[in-house]
Amino acid sequence: MQAIMFEHPGQAETVLALRDMPLPVAGKGQVLIHVAARPIQPADFLFIEGRYRIKPVYPQVAGLEGVGTIVACGSEATRLESGMRVAFRAPGAWAEFAVAPTSRVYPVPPEISDTVACQFALNPLTAWALLSECDLPKSSRLLITAGRSVVARLLTRLAQGKGLAATLLAREGDGHVALEGDTGQPIARGKNIAEVLEAIVGRQGRFQAILDAVGGANTLALMDALEPRGRLISYGILDDGEITLKASRILYKNMLWQGFGIDGWLDQASGNEVTAAQQDLWPMLAEQADLLPVIGSFTLPQIHSAINAVRTIKRPGKVLLMG
Ligand SMILES: NC(=O)c1ccc[n+]([C@@H]2O[C@H](COP(=O)([O-])OP(=O)(O)OC[C@H]3O[C@@H](n4cnc5c(N)ncnc54)[C@H](OP(=O)(O)O)[C@@H]3O)[C@@H](O)[C@H]2O)c1
Repeated sequence: MQAIMFEHPGQAETVLALRDMPLPVAGKGQVLIHVAARPIQPADFLFIEGRYRIKPVYPQVAGLEGVGTIVACGSEATRLESGMRVAFRAPGAWAEFAVAPTSRVYPVPPEISDTVACQFALNPLTAWALLSECDLPKSSRLLITAGRSVVARLLTRLAQGKGLAATLLAREGDGHVALEGDTGQPIARGKNIAEVLEAIVGRQGRFQAILDAVGGANTLALMDALEPRGRLISYGILDDGEITLKASRILYKNMLWQGFGIDGWLDQASGNEVTAAQQDLWPMLAEQADLLPVIGSFTLPQIHSAINAVRTIKRPGKVLLMG
């Protein structure tokens, strides 16, 4: 089969190559999937650079999620059968065929397109799980960083459904802007995040929870914008810079600073929680496919053009590898 693989960590542009690889075999509790579509995510670059929580095993096929049709089931792969169309999350998705554990395979309703379904196993599940972790009562104030990201779009939509008041924080030119989640209208601008947050907190008060995909030195300003007993969840490392932090910043507020990774969350989630997530998310995505916008579509042999598109297109959305 054709696969995009790498033999050592590095920049995607330099280490990825299209190769003929042996067909993988579905082992115990796994299924073999004929892959139809896969998104290119920030996590894919971290994986290829050896900076992700899942570590490559060389020669490693790139890619961590997709959608396709099951063509073989290993032993103990219960509830799944050949012919089912499934979204999945497993290393090795950027190939014609991939193997995934049944615990990371999600049957796709017929009304959902491949372009939407291929993105299901990471961002929609992450957004759902993040809000579940926050466990906020109605009308609570929620701040979401990297506010133009796909996860932020999904969080905003899910927060609306829960009656939460979401505010989005995003980069704008040389500065930063805060947007009202429901309307997308700007509510504060500033040359740095601390300035923007000071303006919002002064007018509207502090936040009960903050979901942060960025990290780095601005984490301190986020902590200062939390209410006492508030919760900051760090779930992304768009800026993985080091932070110097006094314990007093956290303890004087009785605040909770929590890390979140979808794999760790899924490892401990109950079957009921994962079922509830799918029951909430699939109808929402059927109604609003534009929550998962597609900004480019390429084949596996066009991998380098696809990577270039990810680096250069500035609109929100994902570049897909199809076929
Ligand atoms: N923990 C988990 O399990 C998990 C799961 C899914 C996603 N994630 C993480 O969630 C984040 C968002 O994912 P996504 O797929 O939604 O991303 P995306 O749609 O590709 O969007 C990335 C966004 O990040 C912004 N950005 C990039 N670098 C930044 C920086 N240094 N400071 C501030 N903003 C920055 C970009 O803003 P501009 O528009 O200003 O360029 C862009 O809007 C990523 O970090 C991803 O790795 C984590």
